[in-house]
Amino acid sequence: MYTHLQSKAREEPPVTLSTLRQMKADGEKIACITAYDASFATVVDNAGVDLVLVGDSLGMVVQGHETTIPVSMDDMIYHCQATLRGLYRPFLLADLPFMSYATPNQAAANSARLMQEGKASMVKLEGGAPQLKVVEHLARCDIPICAHIGLTPQSVHKLGGFSVQGRSAAAAKEMVQAARDLESAGADIVLLECIPTALAQEISAAVAVPTIGIGAGPHVDGQILVLYDVLDITPGRKPRFAHNFLHGRDSVGAAIGAYVDAVKSGAYPAAEHCFT
Ligand code: KIV
Repeated sequence: MYTHLQSKAREEPPVTLSTLRQMKADGEKIACITAYDASFATVVDNAGVDLVLVGDSLGMVVQGHETTIPVSMDDMIYHCQATLRGLYRPFLLADLPFMSYATPNQAAANSARLMQEGKASMVKLEGGAPQLKVVEHLARCDIPICAHIGLTPQSVHKLGGFSVQGRSAAAAKEMVQAARDLESAGADIVLLECIPTALAQEISAAVAVPTIGIGAGPHVDGQILVLYDVLDITPGRKPRFAHNFLHGRDSVGAAIGAYVDAVKSGAYPAAEHCFT
C-alpha cells in the first residue's frame, strides 16, 4: 500500500493533518508554498516545506491570465498529478477552482476528483459565511477542508480589486465570526489572505484549527507564499508581502530553504510585509 513512499527511503514520515495540528500545539510554524509541477515539487520538498498548495494562482503565474477565474477542474487535476510525482514529505492541498463548489453536491463531486484523480489530501475553497453549507457537507463526507477568507482572489471582480480586507470594525467582526463558524462547520485549516495583523491574530486565537497566513502578519500558525513570488519571477506589480528569497543566493533550493528557515524562526514576515 505504501510502496511508493517506502521506495523513496526517506527518514521523515509524510506530513498529515495530525502533524499540522501538533505543530500548532507545539508552536512550530508551518512553512507552506505553492507548486505546480514535479520539478519544483522536488525542490520544495528537499528544502523542508511542510505543506504544498497546488493553487489556482497557476492561472496567473503559469497560464498568464489576469486572474484565477479561468482555471478549470481539469487544469487543477493535471497540476496536482504533476506536483504529486515530485513530492514525498509535504502535505498536498489543492484549490477548488472558481464555480466548482457552488452547491454542496457539486463541491463534493469536484473534491472527490481532486482527491481521487489529483491525490490531494485536502481541498481549499474561498469564502466565509456563504460557504457554511458546502463546508458542512464536505466535512460529513470526510473531505478535509481548508477555508480561505480575507482577500479571496476568485471574487476579485466582486471585491473591486486585490485589496486588503477586514479593515473596518464591522468587516473585522464579521470575519472573526466567519472563521469560528467555518471551524464549527468542519473546516480543518483557516487560510487568511491580506488582512491586518491584529485581525489575523484575533482570528488565530478564536479558532482551534491551524491558521495559515499570506499578508496576514506573524501571529498565525503558518505562512504561505506563491513560489514565483519567493523567486521574484512573478510578472507585474509585487504584493507587499512578497519577498525575494533568491536575492543573494545561488540556487532555487537555497532560496526556498531560506524561506522555510525565515518562517520557522519568525523572521518572515517582517513589518514591511504586513498590513495594519
Ligand atoms: O492560489 C493560491 O496560490 C492561493 C494562495 C495565494 C494562498 O490561494
